[in-house]
Amino acid sequence: MSDNIIRYERDDEGIVTLTMDDPNAGANTMNAAYKAAMGETVDRLESERDDITGVVLTSGKKTFFAGGNLADLQKATAETAGDVFAEVEGIKAQLRRLEQLGKPVVAAINGAALGGGLEIALACHHRIAVDDNKIKLGLPEVTLGLLPGGGGVTRLVRMLGITEALMGWLLQGQQRTPADALAKGVIDELVPTREELVPAAKAWIRAHQEDATAATKPWDVKGYKLPGGTPTTPAFAANLPAFPANLRKQLKGSPIKSPRSIMSAAVEGAQVDFDTASRIESRYFAELTAGRESTAMIQAFFFDLQSINSGALRPAGIERSKVSKVGILGAGMMGAGIAYSCATSGIDVVLKDVSIEGAEKGKAYSAKLLDAKVAKGRLSQEDRDATLARITPTADAADLAGVDAVVEAVFEDHDLKEKVFAEVEAVVGPDTLLCSNTSTLPITGLQGFATRPADFIGLHFFSPVDKMQLVEIIRGEHTSDAATARAIDLVQQIRKIPVVVGDGRGFYTSRVFGTLIIEGAQLVAEGVDPQTIERAATSAGFPAPPLAMLDEVSLTLTQHIRSEAAKAAAAEGREIASTPGEEVIDTLVELGRKGRASGAGLYDYPAGAPKVLWPELRQRWSKDTQIPLRDLQDRYLFRMALETAACFEEGVLTDTQAANIGGIFGIGFPPHTGGPATFMTNYEGGLAGFVARANELADTYGERFRPSAWLTERAATGTLVDVQESAA
Ligand code: NAI
Repeated sequence: MSDNIIRYERDDEGIVTLTMDDPNAGANTMNAAYKAAMGETVDRLESERDDITGVVLTSGKKTFFAGGNLADLQKATAETAGDVFAEVEGIKAQLRRLEQLGKPVVAAINGAALGGGLEIALACHHRIAVDDNKIKLGLPEVTLGLLPGGGGVTRLVRMLGITEALMGWLLQGQQRTPADALAKGVIDELVPTREELVPAAKAWIRAHQEDATAATKPWDVKGYKLPGGTPTTPAFAANLPAFPANLRKQLKGSPIKSPRSIMSAAVEGAQVDFDTASRIESRYFAELTAGRESTAMIQAFFFDLQSINSGALRPAGIERSKVSKVGILGAGMMGAGIAYSCATSGIDVVLKDVSIEGAEKGKAYSAKLLDAKVAKGRLSQEDRDATLARITPTADAADLAGVDAVVEAVFEDHDLKEKVFAEVEAVVGPDTLLCSNTSTLPITGLQGFATRPADFIGLHFFSPVDKMQLVEIIRGEHTSDAATARAIDLVQQIRKIPVVVGDGRGFYTSRVFGTLIIEGAQLVAEGVDPQTIERAATSAGFPAPPLAMLDEVSLTLTQHIRSEAAKAAAAEGREIASTPGEEVIDTLVELGRKGRASGAGLYDYPAGAPKVLWPELRQRWSKDTQIPLRDLQDRYLFRMALETAACFEEGVLTDTQAANIGGIFGIGFPPHTGGPATFMTNYEGGLAGFVARANELADTYGERFRPSAWLTERAATGTLVDVQESAA
């Protein structure tokens, strides 16, 4: 047996227990060794069939089976698509033989079964799982730009029907608990403990010895009908045209390919026999695997997130720290949100504002969010009360004594921040981590007045804090490695994603985000129809379009940021000229249209109705200027990517993971691109191809698209950083 990856044990009753347990890895994956072992296993089962009463398939790992080998899948190209197709067909042929062994096969699911893991279980005749809410079951391939190519689409469609398979599992890659999966008909039985799993599987086999249907899938029985009907069933056919339209709506115009391929594989596969459907699925799988989208999404959503979450980028050699009590200064919108995130993670919070009323108002925000959870049945009243009791509102700085960390979120004013930190430092212990949630003020300037600059760091949260998973950690010039490590630990303790960046105006995310909204305003100035400006962004995959975002952040804030930058430049003897887009913003502000908060901006906000683009915008600026859609989309993507490149050049960014994850999770860079860094290196022709296209845009639309000498030089290496921190 190849490396003993699948242990084969037959008991006195003739029940074979197969234990998948790759000795060379922490989890089982569909690697070459698995394929060889499964091939040998199925051969043996077939040759010993007459002495076998049933088969139990389980795992020797903590998880059941982890799925496909992503490092291999990521490397696939158009040239190797044929090999991918052959490979996946081979893996599926083995599972199909297991399914048609003629003996009942039971999956005994002891831990997570995601992707390929669940697909193996779906090939079995009966699925028993441990009733543990920590176990996740699902087919998340879509989130990696792939589709379940191990039989997942074909079998789920036949088990649940097209609609339920697509909506409940495939299109969004939902991860479900065993109890939820049981309710959805994907798991057949639950047992309370892991110890009861294999005995329960054997008991089912025993109980079904005389039942011929136990070892046969419904679709292998003559007369099988797909639940809910096929595209040739009139009732179903009548609904079918709405499927792609709904998908498009759900995707908000994003060009992402994987959900479309999944829908095609499901609908086309429903019209043919099982084996043909399975082959159709393999074709779509090979096509997606070979494309750039899966390369990019596997990088971002698997490898980049994994290295961030596992602490691979955390300064080495520093012991993990834990915060028991945090002080939050300022109970406004951000402070209140940060208090909620800390309290729900079990941290005691001292929430300070200038008045006790202000502090209490901040605490009330948590009460509102917690009450909503109770109302939805997602939280018990006791847990709600316990969480809320962790927040102590105060107007007295003395109450901050004993906190492990301070997070400042008072008004964005340098002098005020200086004042509150002086107040705090007089009260807190010498080990307290000092964090500022400033969104624009350089950290090095702020830490200059702290008595312990090494312990001072930027902790930039995003609004609304309870929903946004990212926190941008900013190291000032004097911030120590130990403080950086502690800040990372704190962010992870509150279950958010930390990305570490260097100091500078706008740090990383705000700076890059600014280029998107200013480019939107620039297009208004050039006379492009405002609706076209917005649509070009959503069709490029941005979750929200630039003019709407400009209204959200407020036009006056962008003016403020610009004037601060102008002051800083003037101090260095440079002058920054206004751009046509900035002049559009100035005109709107003069007209009293300052953005959403002020009730009017680029959009109108009629009471009780959806916002609409301000009609006069078109009258004042539109000249029916026609710019090809691809150029419009590239202007957004390239402005942001080029600004990201500038961050690397200036040392604000030192790793591609922070660039990608910060870009996607913080500022909505289109997820299917894998984030701004991967967008550049994964561009057609690699980084050199990106630079060539940027030069083209610069020739047509202006010098802001011109790649710097540094970036042009990097193009020859194909990477943005010297150590290529990519696939593991
Ligand atoms: P906010 O205006 O809602 O809240 C500020 C709070 O600080 C007010 O409740 C105010 O009473 C309080 N405050 C003023 N002086 C104080 C003092 N001496 N001691 C204690 N509290 C005091 O402002 P917001 O939006 O919460 O912003 C706070 C900080 O977070 C700013 O630095 C801002 O730039 C930053 N930020 C804001 C984001 C946003 O989307 N609003 C995003 C990321 C960072």
